[in-house]
Amino acid sequence: MKVLLIGSTGTIGKEVAKALAARHDVIAASRNHGLHRVDIADKESLAALFRAVGQVDAVVCAAGSAKFAPLGVLTDDDFRFSLGNKLMGQVNVARLAAEYVADGGSITLTSGVLAREPMPGGAAIGMVNAALEGFVRGAALELPRGIRINVVSPPWVEETLRALEMEGRGAPAATVARAYVESVEGKRTGQVIEVPLP
Ligand SMILES: NC(=O)c1ccc[n+]([C@@H]2O[C@H](COP(=O)([O-])OP(=O)(O)OC[C@H]3O[C@@H](n4cnc5c(N)ncnc54)[C@H](OP(=O)(O)O)[C@@H]3O)[C@@H](O)[C@H]2O)c1
Repeated sequence: MKVLLIGSTGTIGKEVAKALAARHDVIAASRNHGLHRVDIADKESLAALFRAVGQVDAVVCAAGSAKFAPLGVLTDDDFRFSLGNKLMGQVNVARLAAEYVADGGSITLTSGVLAREPMPGGAAIGMVNAALEGFVRGAALELPRGIRINVVSPPWVEETLRALEMEGRGAPAATVARAYVESVEGKRTGQVIEVPLP
């Protein structure tokens, strides 16, 4: 399969690229690295990416930012940023992918554990994660030509916790990557694919 992977250089994306590359042709994209540069927060940039890449069998997005900060500190701009980047960025990935994904192909987005396990500072992120999950359930009913759509909900990733010097249990990025492979290669649609902690 030809798989367009947005966020291919990230903690999760790197492992997704590795796992998919074993069996598929991976086209890597991010803002600053690789042949294909894209900013998911900019719809024109996304449209240009899809025009350049053309038809693919699957699109995976392992990118998207939202603001982590206490509720009392979050500004209008922080909410706008979170909605425009992680939420609408990925919604627009899916809307454009619907035109470029081959019959029976798939779209995989990324939400996260804060949608269902809240923590202080996580209100904006939890909000966009939950919205992405609602979007995917609804979009699955309407995508044309048998195209599937799922959202992977990673737990805290071990490597991220280490990098941030945070306490707590996480899953290795390589384990999280298996959920993306399952979404691309399996039959599931309209689902939130949760990754349990090991
Ligand atoms: N790591 C965790 O513990 C964890 C847990 C739950 C959910 N998640 C979610 O999983 C996703 C990936 O997380 P991560 O930890 O792997 O992130 P990361 O290490 O920061 O990597 C993000 C990747 O996306 C690219 N990217 C960032 N902003 C972009 C944009 N606007 N347009 C296009 N590409 C962009 C980055 O490359 P460039 O800088 O070159 O663009 C990089 O390849 C995020 O949505 C995050 O919220 C992560």
